[in-house]
Amino acid sequence: MRAAAGSGRGGEEGIQMSINYNERIPNNVSLSEDKQLQRALERWQPKYLDWWREMGPEGFQSKDVYLRTAISVDPQGWAQYGYVKMPDYRWGIFLTPPEKDRQVNFGDHKGDPAWQDVPGEYRSLLRRLIVTQGDTEPASVEQQRQLGRTCPSLYDLRNLFQVNVEEGRHLWAMVYLLMKHFGRDGREEAEGMLERRSGDADRPRILGAFNEKTPDWLSFFFFTMLTDRDGKYQLASLAESGFDPLSRSCKFMLTEEAHHLFVGETGIARILAKTCEVMKRINSDDPAKVRAEGAIDLPTIQKYLNFHISVTEDLYGSEISTNAANAYTMGLKGRFEEAKLKDDHKLATATYPVPDLAGDAIIVREAPALTALNERLRDDYIVDCQKGVDRWNKVLEKGGAGQRLRLPHKAFHRQIGTFEQVHVSPEGRVLTEAEWTRHHGDWLPNDADHAFVQSLMKPVTEPGKFASWIAPPARGINNQPIEFAYARVD
Ligand SMILES: [Fe+2]
Ligand SMILES: [Fe+2]
Repeated sequence: MRAAAGSGRGGEEGIQMSINYNERIPNNVSLSEDKQLQRALERWQPKYLDWWREMGPEGFQSKDVYLRTAISVDPQGWAQYGYVKMPDYRWGIFLTPPEKDRQVNFGDHKGDPAWQDVPGEYRSLLRRLIVTQGDTEPASVEQQRQLGRTCPSLYDLRNLFQVNVEEGRHLWAMVYLLMKHFGRDGREEAEGMLERRSGDADRPRILGAFNEKTPDWLSFFFFTMLTDRDGKYQLASLAESGFDPLSRSCKFMLTEEAHHLFVGETGIARILAKTCEVMKRINSDDPAKVRAEGAIDLPTIQKYLNFHISVTEDLYGSEISTNAANAYTMGLKGRFEEAKLKDDHKLATATYPVPDLAGDAIIVREAPALTALNERLRDDYIVDCQKGVDRWNKVLEKGGAGQRLRLPHKAFHRQIGTFEQVHVSPEGRVLTEAEWTRHHGDWLPNDADHAFVQSLMKPVTEPGKFASWIAPPARGINNQPIEFAYARVD
């Protein structure tokens, strides 16, 4: 699959809407005009491919997969579909075109022209933001590398691999910024991205949730719904950055991220639909009876939801953070949809409600909005998750189920911030150690739940067939029928 050389050149920096696939590294940033950078990236490319072969999807590297490849950054029709062997996927560097006369939209530099180069005094914080984001991308590929072997259908297998190759491309996006704008340090950071390993005791990935296992497809769908959604909120905040190349990288990454969220949300919706179908057929919601039919009972799904949302909430960091305040004041990382918000975009005197502990009660107090930016982003994220849960509950309602899913209190099962030291129930009650010990297996997946879900993980690779625990999707990918051979696995 090769697209023609780019046309429709626009913007001062030679950003093209179409992507040049004639170069070793596909790009729309006129890479061939920067020989030093091109050479640095071409030296990194084989190491990336070594990493992909070692840590990418296990057992499917030589298989044809029906994948979409970006051929343009134009929002109308940037994708092309076709069979690709994953190591041949055309990873590259795609930025959205520059916005004419774009400004820094918040913080101390509000109103200045957006930066095309790294402001020297902000170099280390900016580098850390980019490295932290970049590190999550290969991490999730590593977490998901065994899942292909137990795919519930070819359709789902293809979606998994689409997510995986795009996470690989997101790494490329961040490595491009590091190599173009951070010199030798950036090149070293780019090497580090390929050296850390998810879950490794000696050289783990940077953030906790990206060192957790993704051992089964129920976890995968919750991960793509909830943890990729953290990605959406982080990328959206970085897309507001006054550092224009970061903003334009993140904007294009967001268009890819939307598919990952779709995979997660519809994956869980299809599991719920199947569970409803089974409960109706056996006329019972008894978890043991539902399990005996090869479907996943609703209490187990709720526990997985509790786990994944709580570890993902931790990714936003401490409730009060001077780092977050600095990144904002410096104009490096904004709020979600910063440019659409109606205030002074400096937050010098504003406050924001932050949860806190008062004895064994959870209270809310006003904190300076600047230092509460992590909490604000976490709250924006939770609102978005709640909408997803509401859509899932419509599936349950339509399927005739009596139960509903709910998000746990945001203090539940937290490992970072104010609630790290205490145990809190899903309803938001601070618990004694004994209460937690007695109940946590009712709220989080226990060994028996993991074992049950694992027992369902048997590959289904006949086109159009689906595992017993998940309903088919409403439609196929790219207008293909559901029984289309989304991967050739034989
Ligand atoms: Fe990503
Ligand atoms: Fe993603």
